Amino acid sequence: MLFKQQALLRQKLFVLGSLALGSVLYLVARVGTLDRLQPVCPVERRLTPSEPQQIPLRTLQFKRGLLHELRKGNATKEQIRLHNLVQQLPRAIIIGVRKGGTRALLEMLNLHPAVVKASQEIHFFDNDQNYARGIDWYRGKMPFSFPHQITIEKSPAYFITEEVPERIFKMNSSIKLLIIVREPTTRAVSDYTQVLEGKERKNKTYHKFEKLAIDTNTCEVNTKYKAVRTSIYTKHLERWLKYFPVDQFHIVDGDRLITDPLPELQLVERFLNLPSRISQYNLYFNATRGFYCLRFNIVFNKCLAGSKGRIHPEVDPSVVMKLQKFFHPFNQKFYQITGRTFNWP
Ligand code: A3P
Repeated sequence: MLFKQQALLRQKLFVLGSLALGSVLYLVARVGTLDRLQPVCPVERRLTPSEPQQIPLRTLQFKRGLLHELRKGNATKEQIRLHNLVQQLPRAIIIGVRKGGTRALLEMLNLHPAVVKASQEIHFFDNDQNYARGIDWYRGKMPFSFPHQITIEKSPAYFITEEVPERIFKMNSSIKLLIIVREPTTRAVSDYTQVLEGKERKNKTYHKFEKLAIDTNTCEVNTKYKAVRTSIYTKHLERWLKYFPVDQFHIVDGDRLITDPLPELQLVERFLNLPSRISQYNLYFNATRGFYCLRFNIVFNKCLAGSKGRIHPEVDPSVVMKLQKFFHPFNQKFYQITGRTFNWP
């Protein structure tokens, strides 16, 4: 009797064991099939311009931490390899305009986790000597970044230098171009103020703005004065349009970037097909500086250097009016071409 019961139990155990083994074998086979069904390489999807690019975003802290170490030269080759860090050619360039707020724009865009800035102005395309060094020299000047990030550089001299559009076109004909502009007369005075400060630093005397901006023989605006010429935005833009279609440019309102930067930055994010990541938290008004400053995280804030936001000298109102009248038709043309209108006089 006992022997019969033991035989029955052994039989039951055998059946249960077989069932369990069968299930395991089935699952293994199924997983194998699923594995085989997965594509070997990830399928690439083409992105339409209206579809914001989905970027695997690292945290700002991580981006800052590692890139900061890299900048200090502390990151090892192993870290660079491990994190797949690369030096990439810029996919967007702030080409100008000098004194438009180019530094503020670059620094503020750098708040975005998918953006990495080239800290220095590289002057690759406007300087013949640098240009002769070749594209690998230029790439070598770029910061390390993760492959999904985009590198941005700014060199405001690009906007006004004859050879630059063709040279940039040869590097990348679909590059995105950012131009930050301010009311042209204010920009000209800002330009003058920067040069004046340089002269004063060297204990040199300099002419008054009025003397440079107005031709004393004709009493007309002196179009030979560089600060005036740079503010004729449409003339420079027309040269660029021989190489790039107008939708490859984005115009940033430099006056609004001073008073209310976030909406301007959000427009740039959209132009660059980046998800909106810069928020009001990242920008705070510093009453002492009189400008917005940047907040990267709970511990790291920074304002731009003191050379940004100089006090302008007072300019004879009749000269201001003359300049504003002079720039007016050029401004109208600029609005027409770019599709962006400003309340400039
Ligand atoms: P001013 O010095 O005339 O005020 P750029 O970087 O192209 O040289 O432009 C300098 C200008 O950036 C400054 O001109 C300043 O007005 C402007 N700017 C815009 N946002 C700023 C900010 N957050 N901090 C300091 N300057 C800023």
